[in-house]
Amino acid sequence: MLARSILITGSSRGLGLELVKQLSAANSSPGHIIATCRNPDSALELKKLAETHQNVHITRLDVGDEESYIPLVAHVEEIVGSSGLNILINNAGISPKSTRINMVKWKHMTDTFHVNAIAPLMLAKALLPQIKRAASQMDGGCLAAKRAAIINISSILGSIEENKEGGLYPYRASKAALNAITKSQCIDLRNFNILVTCLHPGWVQTDMGGKSAPLTPVESVSGIINTLHNLNEEHHGGFYQYDGQKLPW
Ligand SMILES: NC(=O)c1ccc[n+]([C@@H]2O[C@H](COP(=O)([O-])OP(=O)(O)OC[C@H]3O[C@@H](n4cnc5c(N)ncnc54)[C@H](OP(=O)(O)O)[C@@H]3O)[C@@H](O)[C@H]2O)c1
Repeated sequence: MLARSILITGSSRGLGLELVKQLSAANSSPGHIIATCRNPDSALELKKLAETHQNVHITRLDVGDEESYIPLVAHVEEIVGSSGLNILINNAGISPKSTRINMVKWKHMTDTFHVNAIAPLMLAKALLPQIKRAASQMDGGCLAAKRAAIINISSILGSIEENKEGGLYPYRASKAALNAITKSQCIDLRNFNILVTCLHPGWVQTDMGGKSAPLTPVESVSGIINTLHNLNEEHHGGFYQYDGQKLPW
């Protein structure tokens, strides 16, 4: 089993939905898959999954709305109890269309930072007591997703070294910030035996990735799940893609 409990943000569609699909269909499916989304009523595919899999719990969460963290944390507590939360996957993200410098708007920058960089940090902070509790259930100092992990879904577009084409200011800068946040979290949380990494899912055919992307959500997510199984000390604070290949900052 990957973990007893896992929380995924942005589960209404795209990669988040595919993660819930594959995790709930797995032979050793996690005991609790907490699938969060902004509008559960309109997340029809997710609702169908929850009807057929008792371990899928749909919870409302707008990651940009700190007020909604209070009921979320209470709901997670009810679900996971004394076992704590093993894995937080910060998957929800946005990518405004603005590309070149003459198109970028102040609001694009602040909105994208809000959802892609600040929210993953603040959500990890809000859920830290439950994640620490899960980490403390295992003896020794090893790091593994099945123990406790924060997985920040980043993007190769956040890599400064790999930026050969410019533009995309809000998205690139927000994911670079998320990468910097991941590095600090890895230092701050090592003593609590909580593994932290950022993962690039590849360029994937979702609403965000578009139809020309080379990877299907099924391919990307099966790679991500396989990589999650293999994460250890060596990956702590690093930047990897869906298939486990290390990426440059
Ligand atoms: N697809 C790619 O090629 C690609 C490449 C690199 C990285 N990524 C990253 O992978 C992650 C998932 O992307 P995707 O391709 O699945 O995108 P997507 O198909 O556009 O789905 C985005 C998801 O994020 C949710 N979301 C957006 N803002 C939110 C908010 N404020 N609160 C809660 N949920 C919110 C959306 O919910 P609603 O349905 O409510 O809008 C939706 O479930 C993102 O972090 C993205 O940056 C994707």
